[in-house]
Amino acid sequence: MTPTPAARIADLRRQLEDANYRYHVLDEPSIPDAEYDRLLRELDELEAAHPDLVTADSPTQRVGNAPAGKFAEVRHAIPMLSLGNAFSDEEVHDFVRRIAEKLKRPTLQFSAEPKLDGLAISLRYENGVFVQGATRGDGATGEDVTLNLRTVKAIPLKLRGKDWPAVLEVRGEVYMPRADFETYNEHARLHGGKVLANPRNGAAGSLRQLDPRITAQRPLAFFAYGTGLVEGGELPDSHSATLKQLRARGFPVSSLSEVVEGAEGLLDYYRRIGEARDGLPFDIDGVVYKLDDGEGQREMGFVSRAPRWAIAHKFPAQEQATTVEAIEIQIGRTGAATPVARLTPVHVAGVIVTNATLHNADQIARLDVRVGDHVIVRRAGDVIPEVAGVILDRRPDGTMPWQMPTHCPVCGAEIVREEGEAVWRCSGELSCPAQRKESLRHFASRRAMDIEGLGDRYIEDLSDLGYLASVADLYKLTLEDLLEMKRQVDVREGTTPETVKAGKVATKWAENLIEAIDRSRRTTLERFLFALGIQHVGESTAKALAVWFGDLQRIRHLPWPLFKRVPDIGGEVARSLGHFFDQPGNQQAIDDLLARGVVIDDTHAPSGKLRAGLDLATLLVDLEIPKVTRVRAEQLASAFPSVDALLDAPAHNFVTAGLPSDSANAFAAWLEDEANAKLLTRSGAALDELLANTPDDVGVSAGPLDGKTVVLTGGLAAMSRDEAGEKLEALGAKVAGSVSKKTHLVVAGEAAGSKLAKAQELGIEIWDEAQLLAFLAQHGSGA
Ligand code: IVH
Repeated sequence: MTPTPAARIADLRRQLEDANYRYHVLDEPSIPDAEYDRLLRELDELEAAHPDLVTADSPTQRVGNAPAGKFAEVRHAIPMLSLGNAFSDEEVHDFVRRIAEKLKRPTLQFSAEPKLDGLAISLRYENGVFVQGATRGDGATGEDVTLNLRTVKAIPLKLRGKDWPAVLEVRGEVYMPRADFETYNEHARLHGGKVLANPRNGAAGSLRQLDPRITAQRPLAFFAYGTGLVEGGELPDSHSATLKQLRARGFPVSSLSEVVEGAEGLLDYYRRIGEARDGLPFDIDGVVYKLDDGEGQREMGFVSRAPRWAIAHKFPAQEQATTVEAIEIQIGRTGAATPVARLTPVHVAGVIVTNATLHNADQIARLDVRVGDHVIVRRAGDVIPEVAGVILDRRPDGTMPWQMPTHCPVCGAEIVREEGEAVWRCSGELSCPAQRKESLRHFASRRAMDIEGLGDRYIEDLSDLGYLASVADLYKLTLEDLLEMKRQVDVREGTTPETVKAGKVATKWAENLIEAIDRSRRTTLERFLFALGIQHVGESTAKALAVWFGDLQRIRHLPWPLFKRVPDIGGEVARSLGHFFDQPGNQQAIDDLLARGVVIDDTHAPSGKLRAGLDLATLLVDLEIPKVTRVRAEQLASAFPSVDALLDAPAHNFVTAGLPSDSANAFAAWLEDEANAKLLTRSGAALDELLANTPDDVGVSAGPLDGKTVVLTGGLAAMSRDEAGEKLEALGAKVAGSVSKKTHLVVAGEAAGSKLAKAQELGIEIWDEAQLLAFLAQHGSGA
């Protein structure tokens, strides 16, 4: 029997609330995100069909409210207090002594908690339902940010259990987890959005958005640490028991909270949390100690606006001011030039900081960091210290805006930036010593050629002493070379001459390394391609290339458009591959590697599946010629039998072939560029060669989606809809734009609308993104 809408709605809400509680409070996710989204969507649709059943505490009511003009004021029924600070052990002892003396008690229990670095808020629940949320403001009056707080999934819209107080105010901290903050900023940096200064500003800024839809997109979390007004009901008379009850009622409470005894207990807690600090998923700026029992708290009372029974014990600041002595750039494996500030050394939270990353040129421009500037450096967790901002008031006269150098400081090659990219790169490639060292590191790494024992030190020394001009030189190294290297390093470092015995040990490591290098000679095409360190070519692309083309000799001479025949490879990756193999230095390195005994032992013929895309029309599309779409390419291919015929044709013949004049002109203009004509010729020849050597697709199983029509709707997180469409097509599907009775499958992403509804109506199979990704992964075509 199908349940009534009201029953189903109640059931869905219960499931969603439960999943939320397990995720945010118990930290034990119970269902996959996709499942959560599916339930939420079902609830949303049911409520849309039955508006009379919508309630304010429904999980659907977290998003989508229209912007408010400005925030209303909220007077706190009980003021939101601040805390006194302690910075030393001494001050903590004083705090405990004051309480012990006043209460005349020899032992005292405290609740010790992390001091979260976010924004304090107060949440009001009436009869168990969230009705209002406010910022702290000046402590007496705050701002009504109810709509924004509703979007924070860690905040329950409804209390769990029964017998709630008629009115319950819960107080706590809204914060932004570090990882989410990093992801958010990474995205902002890549897409030119506003970068958040730190997680605390991120949390505060997000809550003060007038448009709750913006807040909903920010990764905010919440921890409860106390209560305000309580009416029509009672809470336990100790702080720790109250926290326990809040947790049971559905609020996240930090699992780091503990009850400890006396000043020693507090200081021990402080040190333990201090040690754990860098590894925590959120920022804290200290710990808070609260006398645990309510009676003691009442007896202690308040001074001005802070309780006498609680205190914040702060950690040393993670931010410090210092000056920029120079801005240098560091070159990575693929040449990425990262600006680094050399600083006047400064202590930041127990560590001496001398360098800080500036991320990229755009970030420098945004902050306008200049040599000579006073800046704020920040250290958070294990991440590299960064320059957080410039103290403009203290800028000395005569500073100049910084500019990316035009040439690589290491090799002198030009530093260039691809259009639309944030990253500048040294164009020196393997002739750049900095890139070469990084390439060697990558080449030798476990998942690449796997040369055991070739650590960073050896790479550094062998490169600096001239033994490794390219990765291929690794296979030229002799035992004598290694020992000579070691000798020179010893001389340089003034190490005392080795005894006979130590000499033996030194020989042993060299023998082991030579052996490891030798072992690595025999490898697979996939590892070899990955080891080359081609930009954008990770392990999965290397694998796809190996599977589809099968042979290094074929791959290394392939013009870039042909790489696009591999389902996972788009224009950017294809061009990167083409560019890499166009460099004579890279071809030389490959020749050297093979000449020095590297053997790829899994060479095979190209995959039969290639055949389907080996035709002139597809080649013309792959060449990305302006105004030459699939339709135009088909027209050209049917009018001209070959690449040569195209090259020989006068421009007006393209019009005769059926192209509109703007396409015909664009194509003719494209052909006039000699480099393009050459690329077309080369590509045509490569296409013929591939066709001649690719087996017929007999015996190769048909695509899993052959004959199936698929519609994509809504937003996907892992890839664009176009990419998803290409992947599905590669597996045999026909991708259509609208849902009809002929549709076999609908993939519904985020916020899918009418197409999804139609598919449900027609009873068509529906997948969410997780199902799509799982299917693609299963068929060797991941995100
Ligand atoms: S208790 C009566 N506990 O620190 C006590 N505050 O300077 C009122 N904070 O505005 C606060 N973590 O934003 C308390 N575990 C914690 C806290 C905490 C962070 C913040 C809060 C407050 C400020 C007090």
